[in-house]
Amino acid sequence: METVIDIVDVSWKRQGQFILSDIDWKVWKGEHWALLGLNGSGKTTLLNMINGYIWPTTGRVSVLGQVFGETDMRELRKSIGWVSSSLQERLQETATAEEIVVSGKFASIGLYESTNDTDFEKAYHIMDQLGCSHIIGRTYQTCSQGEKQKILIARGLMGSPELLILDEPTSGLDFLAREDLLLVVENLAAQDNTPTIIFVTHHIEEILPAFSKSLLLREGSVFKKGYTKDILTTDTLSKFYSTPVEVERKNNRFLMSVPVTSRYL
Ligand SMILES: Nc1ncnc2c1ncn2[C@@H]1O[C@H](COP(=O)(O)OP(=O)(O)OP(=O)(O)O)[C@@H](O)[C@H]1O
Ligand SMILES: [Mg+2]
Repeated sequence: METVIDIVDVSWKRQGQFILSDIDWKVWKGEHWALLGLNGSGKTTLLNMINGYIWPTTGRVSVLGQVFGETDMRELRKSIGWVSSSLQERLQETATAEEIVVSGKFASIGLYESTNDTDFEKAYHIMDQLGCSHIIGRTYQTCSQGEKQKILIARGLMGSPELLILDEPTSGLDFLAREDLLLVVENLAAQDNTPTIIFVTHHIEEILPAFSKSLLLREGSVFKKGYTKDILTTDTLSKFYSTPVEVERKNNRFLMSVPVTSRYL
């Protein structure tokens, strides 16, 4: 079987401090993973490493069978769809929704390389699948947060990636827009030949059944990884957050709450 991500014994040190330590993580083709951790636990840093924007201080990273240090990262990035709020800040506000989607073909921020009608047809098709074709022709700056997130996902899919990284794609969405986006993710995960999806969130209720594996990151280290059903439990998450929490399952989704008694400790 092929690995999509193979991280062995990876650490990343900055200003004398380990931001990531001793990370071991294998993601196999066909799997979808949720990545969970408090603010500053190292999630985005880990994803930046998978995208080749930062280099491990020690250890070995290989993505889609390409070993870092022996591969052209610009080429590899074309096979990775990447959606994050840091990307949102760097986009050209005056570009149209479809131009931003097409730029995903080149894994570039603006549209500098030549495009053709087929590229735009593909963009329209993806936007249609994601339920955002009504914003074709509109500038990015006039789109709502929910529409912007869909544009970014469509952009991430433009290069027909084998790996799709969604770093907190639901931030800033109201509950209906959030459910709508989760449905898009669910439909995507259910398709044949779909990319492996890594879904980063702070909210366990967003972890859909398709995300059968989860990784918990705490202070730059893997706290636990494995089957989501074994990870998202009252016991494990109470230890993970060092605070008592209660986890329930409802309609195939997880719910987490903090018991009233522990809120006043
Ligand atoms: N280039 C850098 N130099 C020094 N420290 C850094 C650098 N990049 C990230 N860090 C630190 O690494 C830690 C992890 O940051 P990271 O952005 O990966 O967290 P995160 O889990 O994505 O958090 P959030 O949930 O808030 O997005 C933070 O303390 C951050 O300040
Ligand atoms: Mg982050």
